[in-house]
Amino acid sequence: MRKVISHAEASKGKIILFIDEMHTLPRAGDSDGVADAASMLKPALARGRIRCVGATTFDEYRKHIEKDTALERRFQKVVSRWTGIPITELDRDEKVKLVHLADRLHERVVGQNEAVDLVAEAVLCSRVGLARGGEPVGSFLFLGSTGVGKTELAKALAEQLFGSEKMLLLDDGVLTDGQGWNVDFKNTIIIMTSNLGANHLTAGNTLKVAHDLLMKQVRKYFKPELLNRLSEIVIFEPLSHHQLKEIVNIQMKEIIVRVDVILKDAALDVILSESYNPMYGARPIKRWVEKNIITIICKMLVNGEADEGSMITIDAAMDKKGLKFQVAKNLRPENPEPMVSSRREKVKDIHVGTKTW
Ligand SMILES: Nc1ncnc2c1ncn2[C@@H]1O[C@H](COP(=O)(O)OP(=O)(O)OP(=O)(O)O)[C@@H](O)[C@H]1O
Ligand SMILES: [Mg+2]
Repeated sequence: MRKVISHAEASKGKIILFIDEMHTLPRAGDSDGVADAASMLKPALARGRIRCVGATTFDEYRKHIEKDTALERRFQKVVSRWTGIPITELDRDEKVKLVHLADRLHERVVGQNEAVDLVAEAVLCSRVGLARGGEPVGSFLFLGSTGVGKTELAKALAEQLFGSEKMLLLDDGVLTDGQGWNVDFKNTIIIMTSNLGANHLTAGNTLKVAHDLLMKQVRKYFKPELLNRLSEIVIFEPLSHHQLKEIVNIQMKEIIVRVDVILKDAALDVILSESYNPMYGARPIKRWVEKNIITIICKMLVNGEADEGSMITIDAAMDKKGLKFQVAKNLRPENPEPMVSSRREKVKDIHVGTKTW
């Protein structure tokens, strides 16, 4: 059994375990008689390292699996995702939305795959009616350093589910409710975020050591009554240089709509070396981009150096400390469908960054 699990884990999702008569799991022992099969499966399922489909009858499920809440929780997720239970009551639009929820969340949230997948799965389960009625869709504790996407994911989720990022946020222990006192937690997603123990994530420990130290601190601080009621505790990782670059690109797209901008890779490096501070995660990037790129483009638009439809290429300056803006103006903006869009090139060296601006 252990060998089968580790084999499936090593396949990174390519092997899907199919367990027939899965209600026998809690009683099936290993040959050495140390642990039952369910306990062996749980850690791998909890970490999302294996994919598993189980078959049983409703009666057997209720009798044997439901009693083991930890196991049941794992299987609710997997079963709904892999068995293709018909999502009959949902209209087509909502089905499409649900299936692509994780991808949509990733349009705003870079990396943090575990967290994104877990919340997307919780929503999916609750929508197809597999979650227990009357309970929240899911309750999560997001842990990790500052500026790594915890609140961003909560906002992205709210935007996808409710069409607005303004959702009740139980953020850092404060319940923010603009409306009233009575909050019905049915159909709610509860997300709590904390930086507790996050210093271990950036202290140069290996991933496992860092997670263990962090969780130790979390268990010391939060009461088990709270922790045991959460659907998931997710640790957000520090962002890699590559992920930070993606975040800069997302932020540029959000802010700049009137002109086309090409951000060269070397420019991304300059932006990050000038703005990024591991202490604050991606937080300072937006402000830096606004201060040092957006203002310049705005000025160019005002003084006529660039206009709507211009293509602005941003590259690193020679000294790799500032940025170089190159404007290609669209010469015939009045022509609705120009066959060839001719652009007049103009290079402008503007050294931005803390040193020259
Ligand atoms: N993983 C990410 N993907 C996309 N943007 C991110 C990510 N992490 C951080 N950002 C950017 O940085 C800003 C701050 O991130 P966020 O508010 O999610 O931090 P946090 O993890 O909640 O930190 P804190 O613990 O201080 O509350 C976001 O508004 C977003 O622009
Ligand atoms: Mg936050």
